Formats: sequence, structure tokens, C-alpha cells
Amino acid sequence: MSGNRAVAYKGPGIVEVVDTPYPEFELKDGPGVNPANVGRKVPHGVILRTVSTNICGSDQHMVRGRTTAPEGLILGHEITGEVIEVGPDVEFIKVGDIVSVPFNIACGRCRNCKEGKTGICLNVNPDRPGSAYGYVDMGGWVGGQAEYVLVPYADWNLLKFPDREQALEKILDLTMLSDIFPTGFHGAYTAGVRPGSTVYIAGAGPVGVAAAVGAQLLGAACVIVGDLNPDRLAQVRSFGCETVDVSKGDPRDQIEQILGVPEVECGVDAVGFEARGHGADAGHEAPATVLNSLMDLTEAGGSLGIPGLYVTGDPGGVDEAAKVGSLSIRLGLGWAKSLSFATGQCPVMKYNRQLMQAILHDKVQIAKAVNATAIPLDEAPAAYAEFDQGAAKKYVLDPNGYITA
Ligand SMILES: NC(=O)c1ccc[n+]([C@@H]2O[C@H](COP(=O)([O-])OP(=O)(O)OC[C@H]3O[C@@H](n4cnc5c(N)ncnc54)[C@H](O)[C@@H]3O)[C@@H](O)[C@H]2O)c1
Ligand SMILES: [Zn+2]
Ligand SMILES: [Zn+2]
Repeated sequence: MSGNRAVAYKGPGIVEVVDTPYPEFELKDGPGVNPANVGRKVPHGVILRTVSTNICGSDQHMVRGRTTAPEGLILGHEITGEVIEVGPDVEFIKVGDIVSVPFNIACGRCRNCKEGKTGICLNVNPDRPGSAYGYVDMGGWVGGQAEYVLVPYADWNLLKFPDREQALEKILDLTMLSDIFPTGFHGAYTAGVRPGSTVYIAGAGPVGVAAAVGAQLLGAACVIVGDLNPDRLAQVRSFGCETVDVSKGDPRDQIEQILGVPEVECGVDAVGFEARGHGADAGHEAPATVLNSLMDLTEAGGSLGIPGLYVTGDPGGVDEAAKVGSLSIRLGLGWAKSLSFATGQCPVMKYNRQLMQAILHDKVQIAKAVNATAIPLDEAPAAYAEFDQGAAKKYVLDPNGYITA
């Protein structure tokens, strides 16, 4: 018996549910594990029985073969779980706690962590600042689309829910705290959204939806979301957003029809490097499209929140430059308009507790907005395929039956 089952990346377009070892308080060698991390002791960690674990657009970049992820990599960075074992150095987290795991792995001890920049922790990834579970080039921490997962620096990383029963009742909302709700909120927040703002969000996937919900929470006057997927656009209209169909042309013109002016105060990129072109170019990939269009349609002096992912290596890039993450960005325009840019991993810990409170006090319906859809672990391969086809859903894996129970 292997003791654990998990979703593994098996090559472009293929994921499988496989038998894997039950975690120990030590990082073992395996696909994607940085050699410098092999044998690393984790006495400050806990082992979780997974309550829920979501499929993300960030996983899709790997599964589409658009990164250097190795075959066999265990996927999953959006994790909520029940603590079933604690390491000897864990002081405050207890067995039985139901906890949300920020997708960023952070030590809580380095300069960046101390400044709240948990997306670029200096001590968890030997390759570069910043780490995550189940992700290429992130140090090799094993993914959580599994029955069981190890979480390091548990006292620092974990957000404990105050009440077990309430947590399980609201699990489809709370499961979004591990990544997309803080990430979308961060996109809106770093775009400068405040009461009365006008906002354009590129992308109506789960992160774009979460950014729209975040912008509404922050008091935006008008939230406009653009995509080329009609089902996803219908989904964002269902909770009060305006929409733009980028396959019909430049978002600027459609924004003018909605607002009377062709610009917004705040721009959010919830698409990233696999962006399609606009109008007649929507049939093919044009990776700089969203960044250039946001610079064009955001007012001078405005800010761009850029949670959409950009990579340093992309085997499937449209040209040689894109293959190393170099895009043709019209920075001169951004400079002329004095725009600010916020990029990178969302430091989840900066927002997750407050957003948890908003969920627990019924101030926000994030699960409904993203159309959270719970499925068993074994249905992960089918869900990956449907999500890749643009299903207007956020898939939540239920590996241990907590949700169906
Ligand atoms: N920064 C972070 O911490 C962080 C965290 C989570 C996800 N992400 C990234 O956020 C991005 C979105 O994640 P998701 O799960 O919603 O992904 P997704 O792939 O489900 O959604 C992306 C959407 O963008 C649309 N799109 C493509 N080109 C477009 C264009 N030119 N204009 C408007 N829409 C366009 C697609 O049709 C799709 O619906 C991904 O790049 C993901 O890796 C970043
Ligand atoms: Zn994610
Ligand atoms: Zn750190």
C-alpha cells in the first residue's frame, strides 16, 4: 500500500491519479524536487488530510506543456485540510484544526517574510525567491491535489478556521482562500480600486472573477470584465459586472460604450502569458496583448494589478523571445502615462484572514461567483480537460469525502 493518492502531471495534456508515499517530516527526492532540498528536515511542519484542493489556471500552464515541469510532478497548490500530525517544533497548530494553506510557502524568518512579502520568501526555494506546493521551479514541495500533504513552517503559514462545523458548512467559499480569492483581491487592491472606482479586469477565469468580487468589496462604482469565452462572460454578469467580448474588438471601444469614456481608473491582468489577441487576432496567442491594452485603457496616473502569470521559460512560446519570457511591451506608453505596475505571486497571508471574516459574516459569495464545483479526486483528469476547454467553473477536489459528507 502506498498510503496516499495524488494527481500527477504525466506530460503535455495528461494528468493521472497515482499512488504516492504518505508524507514524512522530510522532503524526499522525486520529480521536480530541487537536489538542494532533498533530505531537508521539516520538524516545523504538519501533515494534513486534505479537505478540499482546487484546480487552478496556474496548473494548466504546466499541464499544457507550457513550462519545464517534469513528468511525474504531483500537482496542487490550493489546499485546505485537517491537521492529523504535527512535527515536534510546532507550537500552536493542533491536531484536529481545519486550516487554509496559503499557496506561497514561506519560512516566516527571512527578511522578505518579515516585511510581509511571503510570495518571495528567501529560504524555501534554492533556485530563486518564492515557492509553492506542486509547482515547477519552486523547490519541489509536494503538491496537495492528494489525500495527504506536508505543510512546512505550519505555525507561520496556516490560517486556522475558528469553528470546525462552520468551516465545513462554508467550505466551498473558504477553499478559495488558499489562492484565488486573495489573488483576485490583490489584483484589484494593487490596481488602486477604492469606493467609486471604474475598473477593467482582463480575463473571466476564476482569478478574474475573484478580482471582480474583490473590486466590488472595495466599493468600485463599475466593474467591467473582458474575455472571449461567452459562458465565462455570462457568469460574471450573474453577479453584477459589465462585460466586454475581446473577440469583437479592442476593449477600449466597448468600455467607451459602457462608461462614456474609453478609459478606466484601474486595470487588472487576470490572463497572463497565454493571452489571445483582440478582435480578428483572437484566434491566436499574442502574449503581450493584455499588458499593452491595459496601458492603453488605464487613465494616466493609474495602476495595473497583474496577477496573471508571466514566465521566464516557455517551450511553447510564439517566438524565440517569448520562449524566454521576453515580450514586446510598449513600456514607453506606460512611462508617458506614469502608470504603476504590481506583479508577482500574491502574498496570500496579507489578505486571507480578512477575506475569511468577510466569508464567515456572509459579506461575500465567492463560491457562487466562481461557480465552485466539487468532484472526487478520481474525476480530476476529466475536470482538467473541461477547465482547459474554458468551463465557467472552479473545480474543487474532495479527496477524502469531507464535502460530500
Ligand atoms: N499571481 C498569482 O499569485 C496567481 C495566483 C493564481 C493564478 N495566477 C494566474 O492568473 C491567471 C488567471 O488564472 P485563472 O485560473 O483564472 O486562469 P484561466 O486560464 O481559467 O483564465 C484565463 C482567462 O483569460 C481569457 N483570456 C485570454 N486572452 C484574453 C484577453 N486578451 N483578454 C481577456 N481575456 C482573455 C481566457 O479565455 C480565460 O477565460 C493565470 O495566468 C494564473 O497562472 C496568478
Ligand atoms: Zn492557484
Ligand atoms: Zn521567508
